[in-house]
Amino acid sequence: MTTQPPHPSRSASHLLPRGEKGFSRRTILAAPLALAACDRFASAEPSPPNVPPLKSIAPAPFGTAIKASQIDDPDWVALARANVSQLTPEWEMKMEYILADGLERPNFDRSDRIAAFAQAEGMAMHGHTLIWYAQGKEAFAGLSGAAFDRAFDGYIAAVAGRYRGKVRSWDVVNEPILDDGSGMRDCHWSARYGQDGYILRAFEKARIADPDAILFLNEYNQESVPAKGAQFLKLVERLLKAGCPLQGLGLQSHLWIDIPEGVIAAYMREISQFGLPIHVSELDCTLRTENRLDMRSQADRIAAQGARVTELASAFAALPRAQQFAFTVWGLRDTDSWYRQGDKDDGRDKPLPFDSFGRPNPIAAAIAAGFKTPA
Ligand code: G3I
Repeated sequence: MTTQPPHPSRSASHLLPRGEKGFSRRTILAAPLALAACDRFASAEPSPPNVPPLKSIAPAPFGTAIKASQIDDPDWVALARANVSQLTPEWEMKMEYILADGLERPNFDRSDRIAAFAQAEGMAMHGHTLIWYAQGKEAFAGLSGAAFDRAFDGYIAAVAGRYRGKVRSWDVVNEPILDDGSGMRDCHWSARYGQDGYILRAFEKARIADPDAILFLNEYNQESVPAKGAQFLKLVERLLKAGCPLQGLGLQSHLWIDIPEGVIAAYMREISQFGLPIHVSELDCTLRTENRLDMRSQADRIAAQGARVTELASAFAALPRAQQFAFTVWGLRDTDSWYRQGDKDDGRDKPLPFDSFGRPNPIAAAIAAGFKTPA
């Protein structure tokens, strides 16, 4: 299983009030009293905001991440049809899935299914991702020299070639910068071609495989960790100077609630300096923080979340139209979020635009407010 890239808002465990899981026997016995009390507070829950379909108010295509299994979930399909016009495969178009059985036996069943669904629904597709430091090491183990080159070039040709005419764009390379922004990541790809070299090669091969797709470089924490954003911008400058067919910049926007006000908007202005299309490519905003003593209420967290998300959407809406590539959330319902999978789930995080019943979350209203008031 691929480990998630470490992320400032994700690295520490969180001493937040537990969610539904983990009740002790005592609690179960006290449950009827607790439920009565909860019931009194339940009515205190704010009613869901009234938000128009997100794709109808977005200044550019509004997208979401998709897992193949969601195609079989009628509630998810209905929510997607109403709100999005673009899809990004969340994990099944990556090496992790395609090469799970090795380089000789690529598996395209689920990425093909997602591509067919997008086509049938009249939705665009953004390919994600061809080359990522976090994946492929096992499949390429034991290869060196010309054999490694054939496998690297062949993988890009096979995958980008297979979806030529079906994808609008690609994240050709994902997350090349070190988390602290001190430089470029080293990985099995840079070991062969150099830290910039593997990126240049990947873009060149992707360009050959799909001359029409818009080719993106994608990264997280650019807008929230200044050193990382600065390093990303330096890399973009180097690549463009080297003649790299880099045509778009992916701002993942995995936000958290303690990003200082103004930092996101300032970075959006900086990254727009290249005149390239910008993709807010993976928006979610966790309510959890690194501060183990953070006793803020859920309501205070949601207010802080809304402020940051409105700032992002407003900054995106202020971009020149030619630079507004798409605005993509990393899932539709809270329970679809990678933040709510497995042991990371605290049962309370609300990082996405809809709750588990498909009702708009405050974050959906925050997105709408940002689109309405370009910075
Ligand atoms: O669905 C299978 C399940 O059947 C199986 O039992 C389980 C254990 O093997 O795996 C499940 O698949 C997991 C999948 O997520 C669906 O939950 C994969 O192992 C797991 O690797 C995959 O993680 C994805 C991760 O990227 C790695 O590909 C996350 O969903 C996805 O949200 C995350 O997305 C990344 C972006 O690509 C890049 N930016 C950061 C972002 C968040 O980390």
